This record gives sequence, C-alpha cells and structure tokens, in this order.
Amino acid sequence: MLKDISKIKFYNNILDTIGNTPLIKLNKINKGLKPLIFVKAEFFNPGGSVKDRIGVEIIADAEKTGRIKPGGTVVESTSGNTGMGLAIAAAVKGYKTVFTMPDKMSQEKVMNLRAFGAEVIVTPTAVPHESPESYTSVAKKRVEETPNSILADQYENPKNAEAHYKTTGPEIWEQTGGQIDYFICGIGTGGTISGTAKYLKEKNPRIKVIGVDIKGSILHEYFYTKKYSPVFKTYKVEGIGQDFIPGALDFSVVDEVIVSDDPESFHAARRMTREEGIFVGGSCGTAIAAGLKYCEKLSEHDVVVILLPDGGSRYVSKIYNDVWMKENGFLKPERVTMKYVLTDKSVDIPKLVVVEKTATVRKALELIKQYSISQLPVIEGNKCIGTVTESNLLSVVLNDSTKFDKAVEHSMEAPLPTIHMNEEMQSAVKYFAQKIPAVLVVDDTKPIGIVTRFDILDFMSH
Ligand SMILES: Cc1ncc(COP(=O)(O)O)c(C=O)c1O
Repeated sequence: MLKDISKIKFYNNILDTIGNTPLIKLNKINKGLKPLIFVKAEFFNPGGSVKDRIGVEIIADAEKTGRIKPGGTVVESTSGNTGMGLAIAAAVKGYKTVFTMPDKMSQEKVMNLRAFGAEVIVTPTAVPHESPESYTSVAKKRVEETPNSILADQYENPKNAEAHYKTTGPEIWEQTGGQIDYFICGIGTGGTISGTAKYLKEKNPRIKVIGVDIKGSILHEYFYTKKYSPVFKTYKVEGIGQDFIPGALDFSVVDEVIVSDDPESFHAARRMTREEGIFVGGSCGTAIAAGLKYCEKLSEHDVVVILLPDGGSRYVSKIYNDVWMKENGFLKPERVTMKYVLTDKSVDIPKLVVVEKTATVRKALELIKQYSISQLPVIEGNKCIGTVTESNLLSVVLNDSTKFDKAVEHSMEAPLPTIHMNEEMQSAVKYFAQKIPAVLVVDDTKPIGIVTRFDILDFMSH
C-alpha cells in the first residue's frame, strides 16, 4: 500500500532547514543590566553558521541569471563559514567548489570544507587585500582560469545582504513581536547587518542598529571619520573586521559602531558557553563583549537582539583550548614566569633598550627620553655591567658638563639584579620589596628585557 506522504513531517532537502533559528534569552552573563537581551543563535543552521543563508541565495541567483550551468564550479574566498554554506547548496545542486582561506582560520574549518569534497587553498593572512597572494585575489584568478565557474563574491554580491533582508530581518521582527529596539551584530562582509537592518528599519525606523568591529580592523574608524589608517596588526577573531570597505556593507542603515578586542571576545565566548550553556564562536564573543557594555546605558523598557554568527565546535583547538589561549597570551598560565610577564608588557616600547658602555652620557639621556624609561642597562657585549638612570646622569652632568660627551661607563651605577626568564614572577617581587625599581630578565646570560615594579603592578591588576 502506498503510504500517505502528507502525514509525514519532513523537509524536502537540507536547504529547507536553513533559517528560522531560535531567539534565546540571556539569563546570567547580563547580570545587573536592565534591558531584555536575546541572542539569535545562527549556529542552528545546518552548516553551523549564519552564512548558510547566503550560500543558497547566491547559487540560486547564479542559476536564475544563467551564470552557472550544471556541472559548474563555485569559487569563493571565505573565512570558512560562507564556504560551508556554499558547499551545502553546491552538494544538493551538484556543483564543484573551490575555496581560498587565510591561514589564521582554524583547522576545523579547513577540514569541514574538505569533508564536502571542496578544494581548499590556504593563503597568507598578513597580506593586504589587493595583494596577488591574498585570499580574494587567488579566488578571482581561479574563476578566470575555470570555465563554467562563478565567484560567489560575498564581499560585493548584493545577494549577500538580500538573503538577510528576506530571512534574518523578518525572523527577528516576528520573533520579538515587533518589539525590538536594538539590533547588535558583528561586521565582516557587512551582509548580515546591512540586510537585516534594512528590513528592521523599514518596519520601524526607530530601531537602532549597532555594528560590532574588532580592534585591528578599519571599520570603526571609517564609520566615524570616513577615512582609515593602514593597519598592520592582525587579530585572532575570525569572520569579522576588515582592511577595506566591502560593497555588501551599507553603513547608511547602521547607527553606531562599537569595538571589542581579541582577549575580551574569547573570554566572553567562553563565558557564554560555561554560564549560559550556549556554545559559541569567537565573533559571538566580540558581539557579546561589546554588546553587553553597550547595554549598560539601556533601560528595562529596551529589547535587544544580539546576533551570534556561529558555534563553538569549530574553535575547540583555539578558544576552547587552554594551551592555545596561554600561548597567545589570552589565559594566564598557572605558573607565571618572567618571560610571561615580559610578553604581556605594553607593545608601545621595546622590551629592552640598552646602551653600550662606550656610548656617551648624551646618547644615554637621549634614549631615556625617547622611550620614556627610568633606567637603562649598560652593556659590554652581551653582558650587563651597570645601570644608568635619568637622575644619576643629570646629577653627573650638572656637576661637570664635560661629562655629557664622556663614555657612560664612568657614570654608571651597579647593574640591575638579573632573573632568568623561566623563574617565577615572585622572584622579582622580593627585589621590589627592597626598593630596587627594576630587574633584568635574561635568557641564560643574554638580557632580553626589563621588568619594572610598575610592569608587575600592571600585570597583577589585569
Ligand atoms: C564567524 C563569523 N562571524 C561573523 C561574520 C560576519 O558576517 P557578515 O559577513 O555578514 O558581516 C562572519 C562572516 O564570515 C563569520 O564567519
């Protein structure tokens, strides 16, 4: 007997399961904040991220406009999630996939794409967007060389934001019963925020849309100044931030841009997982860290939705791996060594500024001034043989101005105590108790840095 299919509850294929992700209330990590805060959990999508929504939309459009024919190839530069969204749609529709990915992306993401049979080309992270080696340039070249292929082009493709205009925006509007006041969302290509915000603002122009950027990216600066300084820093959070302004990003529907950094993002992600039981990725941490700070000024009448782009399982070798967190300075090791304290020091001044014993007093004073430091080790070869301080040099030259151009070795004081880099921080503390202002950290006998009393206090305070 033929069965009655109308009684079976099913989806026609995996693509039909994309979207309609849940809205979940935060209950713990928002303690003390007044508004009702919900997260839109995009890791419920079958490919585990918000990007499933755009994969299917972009491929459907390429088919409709005849840009891809059966058996064709979909190429994309991706931080991993768009690749997954495209790979799912390509599998269902029978296309090949080629993805280029920056080398900072997690191994899990590369392996996930290869699981779908995709070809993955890993490119260097620390190159400018326009360099021929960048992941976007390599993808473009591949399309030129491959017949019947398309570049999904999430950065410029209007279908990226349109997917969110058609799905994410209406879902949030429906799920909040039209009561949303603030939408907080990270910006990568800008597709999610632009499409969702456009829909929400059409429904209610008073809804405020807050973009989240990551320290080291240009988006925050560009939003407020319409200019940006070149950036040479890379950050570890994946999927958000930019070194250029993508065409998919429409800042006209964004009201404010707020920022967080790597450590705050990763700690917020871990807290979401451990306190709320919501297993999230790094860029969710950025949105939560910056978003919760933003909520401090909101009232009990406000309804806030924070979008969570992906889940934590693709970051278990990074954010959720204490070894990786410690190696990258995001978690303090149980045993704090002098090397660790040194690594943690502000990046604004070099870890070690020294002066040769034959250099002049004038030169030593210049170095002290240039780097705003209090003491300067005097070295002979690799060995520290004394110290000069601003006050001791000033009293020397005030007594006898000819000393300005004499070798510093004749005006130095005793060398700073040395501590091996693998010794614990406590060994420095005992010197500071004796009013010695700083210690020299050595690798065997070679000086590698100075740690001052202030550095230890600064380290302990955070
Ligand atoms: C993990 C993650 N978070 C956030 C985003 C940002 O979304 P959008 O590109 O729509 O701005 C992405 C985009 O790739 C992502 O992969």
